[in-house]
Amino acid sequence: MSDADPLARLAALEAELTAQLSDAESLDELESLRIAILGRKGQLAEFTKSLGALPDTARPVVGQRLNAVKAKLTALLDEKRSLLSRQGAQAAVGRADITLPGTAPALGRHHPITRLLGEVCQAFESLGFEIVEGPEVEFEYYNFEALNIPAQHPSRDAFDTFYLDEPSPQPKKGGLLLRSHTSPVQIRVMEHRQPPVRVVVPGRVFRPDAADASHSFMFHQVEGLVVDRGITMAHLKGLLTVLLKRLFGPATATRFRPHYFPFTEPSAEVDIACLLCRGSGCSVCGQKGWVEVLGCGMVHPNVFRHVGYDPREVTGLAFGLGIERLAMLRSGINDIRLFFENDARLLAQF
Ligand code: DAH
Repeated sequence: MSDADPLARLAALEAELTAQLSDAESLDELESLRIAILGRKGQLAEFTKSLGALPDTARPVVGQRLNAVKAKLTALLDEKRSLLSRQGAQAAVGRADITLPGTAPALGRHHPITRLLGEVCQAFESLGFEIVEGPEVEFEYYNFEALNIPAQHPSRDAFDTFYLDEPSPQPKKGGLLLRSHTSPVQIRVMEHRQPPVRVVVPGRVFRPDAADASHSFMFHQVEGLVVDRGITMAHLKGLLTVLLKRLFGPATATRFRPHYFPFTEPSAEVDIACLLCRGSGCSVCGQKGWVEVLGCGMVHPNVFRHVGYDPREVTGLAFGLGIERLAMLRSGINDIRLFFENDARLLAQF
């Protein structure tokens, strides 16, 4: 190859660069080659500079040939680039094993307590009850006073109630607290409407109990209230017996035990025959054969007086049941804290 013959030099350069491009093994390498060959200071640019010394007659011929070489190398570069990127994509697919099982998205569901609340409310709705709710931050008046719970009653003790430091927005209704039961909603409902009343009230309640297997500082209740002319203890027994059979099965035996609540007279606690031993006695029922599930009674005349109802005109029944208690009995869960630990292994079983 003669240094003096530019066409021969160009042919040699073309062959060399074509070989380099064909041998490129990666897109990065190809990009470096592009700069080294076609860049402003690349080999073709250098070659062009060297043409300055050529006689005028030779220049167009070499120039034309140079353009053809440039076009050919550019085409080769483009071709090689698309080949390499196709190969890269195929290699990536080759590395992923598409037969492996995918990551299934975890499906959410309702918390067991939410579900049981819904089930209890639905049972009452089908019996013609209306679902109402009340505030969790409550006045002393509604939580105690209007429910015939006097100031010196032990449940009003600071050890049994969460009192708030905030000043009361309505001092006549006493201080603020986290309601310790759903019963105050009875008063809120009766204050605003005339009998007949037929409501159930689901909601959260709060008590400063040390947490253990059967106590939590927060739990759920469903309150019930029926007020009309001629409501009797028979309605109370019939209603709750139907409900408990619906929740625990038609064979469920119930018993009403005399008890005391300030806002009902007479009052009772209701037991169901222990679901585990069916009444013969076991550790769940403390060998008694029965487990308590709710409190109830006939609305106390003083409660009616607080809301302006005439106790000679109307009578009423009321009840309050603890949802966690019910859920534990129904599902054989022996520790209330399990509901609030958010352990998906437990929650997924419902
Ligand atoms: N409020 C009571 C409690 O939290 C439960 C209760 C008992 C509600 C008797 C009632 C009732 O409506 O009549 O322990």
